Amino acid sequence: MKITIQEAPKHVNEEVTIGGWLANKRSSGKIAFLQLRDGTGFMQGVVVKSDVSEEVFSEAKNLTQETSLYVTGKIVEDTRSDFGYEMQVSNLEVIHVATDYPITPKNHGTEFLMDHRHLWLRSKKQHAVMKIRNEIIRATYEFFNTNGFVKVDPPILTGASAEGTTELFHTKYFDEEAYLSQSGQLYMEAAAMALGKVFSFGPTFRAEKSKTRRHLIEFWMIEPEMAFMDHEDSLKVQENYVSFIVQSVLENCALELKTLERDISKLENIKAPFPRISYDKAVEFLKEKGFDDIEWGEDFGAPHETAIAESFDKPVFITNYPKDIKAFYMKPDPERSDVVLCADLIAPEGYGEIIGGSQRIDDLELMEQRYKEHGLTGPAYEWYLELRKYGSVPHSGFGLGLERTVAWLSGVEHVRETIPFPRLLNRLYP
Ligand code: 4AD
Repeated sequence: MKITIQEAPKHVNEEVTIGGWLANKRSSGKIAFLQLRDGTGFMQGVVVKSDVSEEVFSEAKNLTQETSLYVTGKIVEDTRSDFGYEMQVSNLEVIHVATDYPITPKNHGTEFLMDHRHLWLRSKKQHAVMKIRNEIIRATYEFFNTNGFVKVDPPILTGASAEGTTELFHTKYFDEEAYLSQSGQLYMEAAAMALGKVFSFGPTFRAEKSKTRRHLIEFWMIEPEMAFMDHEDSLKVQENYVSFIVQSVLENCALELKTLERDISKLENIKAPFPRISYDKAVEFLKEKGFDDIEWGEDFGAPHETAIAESFDKPVFITNYPKDIKAFYMKPDPERSDVVLCADLIAPEGYGEIIGGSQRIDDLELMEQRYKEHGLTGPAYEWYLELRKYGSVPHSGFGLGLERTVAWLSGVEHVRETIPFPRLLNRLYP
């Protein structure tokens, strides 16, 4: 019977066949220990000289890294390994011999590994990160589907900018100019007026010249948008959603977290509600901490966010930023027109901002005024005004950056390891 490594626990004491690759190998005179991987997991295969034919034993001893093969044998429990099972190999059949595989079990530099990303993905750590990414995506669909949201797909080719014009990727669209989407939000607002509570999950493109551990040129964003929900309602959805994905990863990715040596005590307490601090208070706090490079009205940089996050053991919302440093669509605080009803959610342990969200302006006149201030004109923007013309309602939404969330939960330093094929300032290949 052909099974996968993931299915091994259900086949203890059975003779099965697994198709896989040789990740690593150790051998003493009479035993060869094969570290096998098959895409679903990693497992040891033990080949004992006295239990197999001479030909099989010699083949096992000569296997090279990343050679593909079928291994047949009995699944047994193995309490010494994290996986908990191994195979007592009785036979093996080589499919394709790999020679001189470039990524050896020794340490390689990051640039080398990034050049070989198409192969690096096979390694145990990268495999674990991709599984955690997948679990966050799965849990996202579960959370929004069970809470009455409808998945809506905004376009990727757009005629207008959603967040600001400096970071847009331009492309030709027959005789017109188009941009790659930097946020689906404007379309999601239209969708919320049609379907109530909606969410999107898609690629996002930003021509940011930032070379930091938190910036990708192409990243994936989850953008919920909710009609009849104010800023406060939205914060509740955000903290419940983030708590849900953290608990889902803890529950369903225990082995992966162990592989990554993630300190799970830092994740176990991530449950709603999350602490909040206003922008005003955050500036005061930073000044008290000795940051003299920040004045009211300026945006926070990574060191500021990290200093704020360090005083909490859960993600923290920084709320009500100055209007002038935020996007044109954010609703002013009715009690103070110099700040807007918005929040950024900062992850603990220095992983930075994972969510940006706000209540949206729902008043037509005010939105028209913002258009004038920001010089937004033309057909690309006109339709958005109509959402305020025909049955406008209070509504809010947010965007969660998938890769920063994966980095935080996996405990990996840099977002380049959280997406299969990262697009960075200096990298378009592989
Ligand atoms: O704060 P941002 O720019 O928000 C928006 O785009 C809103 N339109 C979302 C909405 O309300 N629907 O981006 C949201 C999140 C950030 O908090 C961050 O996690 C991630 O997207 N992000 C990036 N991730 C990786 N690389 C980049 N260059 C990123 N820029 C933003």
